[in-house]
Amino acid sequence: MKTMQIAIDGPAAAGKSTVAKIVAEQLGIIYIDTGAMYRAATLKALETGVDLSDSQALSDLLTRTDIRLEPGDTGQRVFLDGTDVTEEIRSDKVTRAVSEVAAHRGVRSRMVKLQKEFAEGRGVVMDGRDIGIHVLKEADLKVFMIASAEERARRRYEENQIRGIGTPITDLQAEIEKRDKMDSERKESPLVQAADAVLIDTTALTVPEVAERIVRLAKERAD
Ligand code: DC
Repeated sequence: MKTMQIAIDGPAAAGKSTVAKIVAEQLGIIYIDTGAMYRAATLKALETGVDLSDSQALSDLLTRTDIRLEPGDTGQRVFLDGTDVTEEIRSDKVTRAVSEVAAHRGVRSRMVKLQKEFAEGRGVVMDGRDIGIHVLKEADLKVFMIASAEERARRRYEENQIRGIGTPITDLQAEIEKRDKMDSERKESPLVQAADAVLIDTTALTVPEVAERIVRLAKERAD
């Protein structure tokens, strides 16, 4: 189990990271949130004022950027050039811009290289959009997690309520659908289910139910 590699892909707000964290904890392996890496890259681009449509400028910027993921007391912390940006990368500003940044080939190849390095020779649960297809092609288990856009907006709304953010649910659903479209229709590594991935529709399932299903699948694969 210590070297088991699990890839979880799926659209925005399908519950991937919540479930992935639990699965990693139960299996005693590390969790890597690749969306957080694209978000950190986006924050850097916004802070630097680089044109988000300028592929070359973004690639150059990333060669001068240090992105690290480290375990913390309350979950994984994200560091951008040494500064903790864990909360900042969840801001609306970053969320609105991240799909544009993640669509560039140069940005993706840099992130995929880093992700492969992070996963090298160790047990890992990694979530994102292209993990089963590009990053962990040989993963022991691949999961493609989906949920209806209405349900995903409802979950995000509830999460936001706890954080004191009052964005209307209709706006959240529109933003989720827009990101789905951009992530699925982009030329570079669009969001698609890997042929050997297990599809889990979480619309009517609770977080513990989904986590349990994945842990069970992982144990079956390990046997
Ligand atoms: O999972 P998330 O919402 O934090 O991801 C943010 C964005 O990053 C998402 O809209 C698409 C992009 N992304 C990607 O292109 N590839 C990944 N492996 C992870 C995220």
